[in-house]
Amino acid sequence: MTSASDESEVVRFKRLAAERAVDSIQPGMVVGLGSGSTAAFVVRRLAALRAEGRLTDVVGVPTSVETEVLARSLGVPLTTLEEHPVVDLTIDGADEVDPQLRLIKGGGGALLREKIVAQASRREIIVVDAGKLSPRLGTRWPVPVEVLPFGWRSQALFLEGLGARITRREGPGGTPYRTDQGNLIFDCAFGPIERPEELAAKLEARAGIVAHGLFIGLTSELVVASPEGVEHRR
Ligand code: 5RP
Repeated sequence: MTSASDESEVVRFKRLAAERAVDSIQPGMVVGLGSGSTAAFVVRRLAALRAEGRLTDVVGVPTSVETEVLARSLGVPLTTLEEHPVVDLTIDGADEVDPQLRLIKGGGGALLREKIVAQASRREIIVVDAGKLSPRLGTRWPVPVEVLPFGWRSQALFLEGLGARITRREGPGGTPYRTDQGNLIFDCAFGPIERPEELAAKLEARAGIVAHGLFIGLTSELVVASPEGVEHRR
């Protein structure tokens, strides 16, 4: 178990941002549980509050198998979008956030389920350490693009044609990484992206591209932690 003293600064900021966002959860809510190391702190905080007898009627919708496994191991009750097609509040991490709260997500490979849950949510709070803030998307992170295995070489050419330097994500032992849906991911370095909406539209128009990591118009709030403190921007 990690003690506060051996936490790195970045990990501490992730934890602080996640814990501040959990303050927005009300009893009885259906809560989308994001994926990644920052979102994992949300699950841990929820479990700790449950152990104190608080928020015991909150149920979570996990955005990945990894989050599902973590929540189950900590006794956080789960539900599905079949049972609860509308989610009250989702708390998730991000890889890059621009000033208009547009995001790049999918560093952990969960972009498709994360976007489905975000689109089903009344509120989406993104929790980050300040190192994720960026003047322009694409400056610090490639855009993950999830593609069906069928025809993947054609998708690779298409993505290069859009100007990306592409890397097929690798899994254990150098095998192709597979998403929870069994698809492949290309990490696409476009460099700073001038018009993310236009790029998103092109990716969405392509058959065989299942999801991309540009999250536009889905974030209602941002919690960012830095050496200056924790700020909740609404
Ligand atoms: C997973 C994600 C994560 O939210 C994103 O990669 C941030 O991860 P971390 O909190 O570990 O930095 O989009 O698909």
